[in-house]
Amino acid sequence: MEQTWNSESYAKNAHFVSDLGMPVVEWLNPRTGERILDLGCGDGALTKKLREFGCEVIGVDSSPDFVETAKLLGLDARLLDGHHLDFSNEFDAVFTNAALHWMKQPDQVIDGVWRSLKPGGRFVGEFGGDGNVTTITAALHTSLKKREIVPDAINPWYFPTIKEYQSRLEARGFQVNEIVLIPRPTALPTDIRGWLSTFANPLITAIAPSEHEAFLKEVIALLEPALCDASGQWFADYVRLRFSASKPLNSNFRSSKERRE
Ligand code: BEZ
Repeated sequence: MEQTWNSESYAKNAHFVSDLGMPVVEWLNPRTGERILDLGCGDGALTKKLREFGCEVIGVDSSPDFVETAKLLGLDARLLDGHHLDFSNEFDAVFTNAALHWMKQPDQVIDGVWRSLKPGGRFVGEFGGDGNVTTITAALHTSLKKREIVPDAINPWYFPTIKEYQSRLEARGFQVNEIVLIPRPTALPTDIRGWLSTFANPLITAIAPSEHEAFLKEVIALLEPALCDASGQWFADYVRLRFSASKPLNSNFRSSKERRE
């Protein structure tokens, strides 16, 4: 079951994703004239910001809907899965916000980023880290198991620890400059139903359409005590993994895997 995106519902339920992306842009420190790849550019909100810094930006995303929306902003947006980057030594930086947790083959993605960067290039990003949406995931899994569905088989998300992701970056030859895990409970602009219908459709569509409403009601009831405050404000229990890494100038480096081959 694949995640599908709808730009309109994303704008309503999830505009905080790009609103909260500015600290990662600051870590990137984009400079006029730089050529930057925005990996998993979504609707292009941050791609546009990077262009406003005077950068030449290419956005890639695996969602046709997002790519079309980003193009409407006048951006160079291309339909491309982050597992299959086909650029070669051409970017000063690869930037990514809230996208890597959808890419379940991290080494393949890191390898493509490495090949895309010029020597000395930067890989800077943020995504869900260890502990991200634990409460939401637990409720979804409980309700899936009640319906005899094995959640781990269909869980679409990758939330690594610092240690794991740093090791993967270093195994490919990146120098990790900074990497942190940031608990960031996030107020939702609508409610948890909006979040679930925007972000959890691979789990919802695993059950019969006639069961969707009952399933959602059950998950929402499980989540309410933990994620909704007395005023009715809903939160998502986000934990972000933010990192900055560089491809060394002398990058004749071969990964430990390549050396074994
Ligand atoms: C996140 O941004 O952390 C996230 C988004 C969708 C599903 C799970 C996590």
